[in-house]
Amino acid sequence: MKLKIAVLAGDGIGPEVTHEATNILRAVAEFGGHEFTFVEGLIGGVAITATGGPLPQETIDTALAADAVLLGAVGDSKYGSLPPDKRPEAGLLQIRQILGGFANLRPSIAYPALANNSPLRPEITKGADILFVRELLGGLYFGIPRWWNRDTPVHCEEAINTMRYTKPEVERVAKVAFELASKRKKKVTSVDKANVLEVSQLWRAVVTEVAKSYPDVTLEHQLVDSMAMHLMNTPRSFDVVLTENLFGDILSDESGVITGSLGMLPSATIGGAVNLYEPVHGSAPDIAGTGKANPLGAILTAAMVLRHSAGLDAEADAVEKAVTTVLEAGHRTADIARNTDPAHAVVTTTQMGKLVLEALTQA
Ligand code: NAI
Ligand code: MG
Repeated sequence: MKLKIAVLAGDGIGPEVTHEATNILRAVAEFGGHEFTFVEGLIGGVAITATGGPLPQETIDTALAADAVLLGAVGDSKYGSLPPDKRPEAGLLQIRQILGGFANLRPSIAYPALANNSPLRPEITKGADILFVRELLGGLYFGIPRWWNRDTPVHCEEAINTMRYTKPEVERVAKVAFELASKRKKKVTSVDKANVLEVSQLWRAVVTEVAKSYPDVTLEHQLVDSMAMHLMNTPRSFDVVLTENLFGDILSDESGVITGSLGMLPSATIGGAVNLYEPVHGSAPDIAGTGKANPLGAILTAAMVLRHSAGLDAEADAVEKAVTTVLEAGHRTADIARNTDPAHAVVTTTQMGKLVLEALTQA
């Protein structure tokens, strides 16, 4: 199959981890006789340096002409004094908006080899494999009216954000969750606050209706407050977790502790003009250029490209398996190494990338 991938590596460790991710994609293409082409584009601080703005028109054109966008990370303290709409991070917000994906997918997986990296006890996380499906274009973050008086914030007596959803907005993201669940453990947990919020009552009613088209998938509803607790107490009882925008922002970050390191977490945003794939972490200026960056989040993001833009599920499984194999063999980047265990030698970003590549091609 043919796939054109726009690669927006960005700042800091972005290019370092993205390089390892594209190496994996190249290997998958070569091995399976697929034609993947990579077109690079500037975003973030590197784009400001080269063109004066964080998201040049050329990058927008490249992204919109691609089948998938693979993004590294943006952020450079050099540009921290610029107004917010001119900073590197503004480029990321703009590209997300332009691509327009409404469903943000974030897996939270407990890797047995990293069981001791999570602050949660291994007997609690063991076997946990959750996929968050977070609605990304509605709810409190976009609802109108929104208002406060910026000129006199301290004296301002009131501020407004509106949590708003329409039936079609809930339907389309619910369908994504059920489709994904039907290929997994066939369970959707829908999160809301239906005991208090009208918008959650609509959410619950629409999700329940959508569920009727997926008789083989079990639907359960959870209130967001108790869900926050269940996620930490019984993470392995969940499969696909469907949430509105704010609840998903909070719960998916909370669930990052199940995996144990920010450097391990991938994400995909689907449903828009072009799917956008990015590791969850930022540009990590504290370790940029030192070879300490963990490329596994970016590599697992590449696996999501294979799964959600190329339809290559078996290849995506193989990449995820290769990551597990490397971890089980004891290889660790600094962020996931535990200095109490001398058997776990610390490897660099490129060494880790190479190890995954070897595990993938030898499998
Ligand atoms: P960050 O995610 O860049 O780093 C937080 C901590 O995690 C740091 O100690 C870092 O060294 C570590 N870390 C992150 N990714 C890692 C990896 N792959 N391997 C090993 N360690 C890793 O978040 P921070 O420090 O809050 O922000 C730094 C810059 O990144 C800022 O300019 C921020 O705006 C930007 N940012 C960009 C994001 C994006 O592009 N999606 C997301 C979050 C922050
Ligand atoms: Mg967040």
